[in-house]
Amino acid sequence: MAKLAVNVDHVATVRQARRVADPDPVTAAALAELAGAQGIVVHLREDRRHIQDRDVSLLRQTVKTKLNLEMAATQEMLKIALSVKPDMVTLVPERREELTTEGGLEVQLNKEKLQKYIRLLKDSDIVVSLFINPDLDQVKAAQWVETDYIEVHTGPFCEARTIADRKEDFDRIHNAVKLAHKIGLGVNAGHGLDYNNIGWLADVAEIEEFSIGHAIVARAVLVGFERAVREMVELIHWGAGWRRTGL
Ligand code: PXP
Repeated sequence: MAKLAVNVDHVATVRQARRVADPDPVTAAALAELAGAQGIVVHLREDRRHIQDRDVSLLRQTVKTKLNLEMAATQEMLKIALSVKPDMVTLVPERREELTTEGGLEVQLNKEKLQKYIRLLKDSDIVVSLFINPDLDQVKAAQWVETDYIEVHTGPFCEARTIADRKEDFDRIHNAVKLAHKIGLGVNAGHGLDYNNIGWLADVAEIEEFSIGHAIVARAVLVGFERAVREMVELIHWGAGWRRTGL
């Protein structure tokens, strides 16, 4: 059965909206592990829009399952990864102006550079994964650069608006993961997965792990909202009592 790795970036997005301490993605990661997550994922972006350096180093100390650091292939990030030593690094393309990671890595066109980064990370005992589109040439290029894993980009599949489009994207993913598995690569999948579409991919035998963030954080906000409001209402009712009794 595939594992779930929970991406806690958007817990940090809420925190950074106020630049305060809460909600802390480190606490969310611990709760995710208590609930059965088998890995924690964070994307340390160049612009530090959500996850901060402090989060990555605290998570390194506290995550009990597996810490997967998503990052761009840059000198700055390489230095951080080699010092923090996450269990896995997933190399992703990154553009400052994008809302989220928009496409897979162009492995074919960046073979030499990626191979250099992959070797440095692997020499430091960090397992390396490449986030790629479900494209057979990219899978072959990923093998050429000697990555351990690929993470297949499920975004277009998730965004499909018709059953025919979704089926087509599913087939593309299925073919890519079958080839990757056949040539000895580990296979993860992620981006855009949610409570409605996970059923399509959950039993694809080649997929070892799903990396899911936004849908889980979004659901947590809504399923937790009623309780949070109820607790505040109770405190307000109690508050009048505290003042009268001087507590
Ligand atoms: N995998 C990669 C490489 C990503 O960049 C992201 C988004 O940070 C995810 C998985 C998780 O995507 P989502 O937040 O849509 O579940």
